[in-house]
Amino acid sequence: MIILGADHGGYMLKEHVKSALLEKGVEVTDIGIFEVHAVDYPDVAQAVCQVVLENEDNKGILICGTGIGISMAANKVNGIRCALLSDCYSARMAAEHNNANVIALGGRVLGVDLAMEIVNTFLATKFQGERHQKRVDKMHALEI
Ligand code: RB5
Repeated sequence: MIILGADHGGYMLKEHVKSALLEKGVEVTDIGIFEVHAVDYPDVAQAVCQVVLENEDNKGILICGTGIGISMAANKVNGIRCALLSDCYSARMAAEHNNANVIALGGRVLGVDLAMEIVNTFLATKFQGERHQKRVDKMHALEI
């Protein structure tokens, strides 16, 4: 399942990503926001990450104005590997090498077409495991 969340800086792009994923038949859970009003991105990050961690097949998509704050917040949550993305090569690597379980996008940075290419690339790419698993394990060993 794909868990979506955005603050006011990411709301418009989140709505677009949600529609595009639903159109493709992807199962989506939207944790909000559901209308434009100012919220604090760490709250959105926490809510999405909590649901992502319920099932190892879940993936999260977080959107704020730049993607920066919401990715920083997500990466404070133990078990979360959040990649801030603005290109398709990094989207592929985030899945293949880093086994990202959350991606962050900038709603005030990306156009909708590029954002959807990034999302589709990330969701279509599998983790390669092996040497990368050891590195992912070492990342989680840094958690306090
Ligand atoms: C909200 O104005 C903005 O600061 C937020 O969406 C995000 O860009 C923070 O990193």
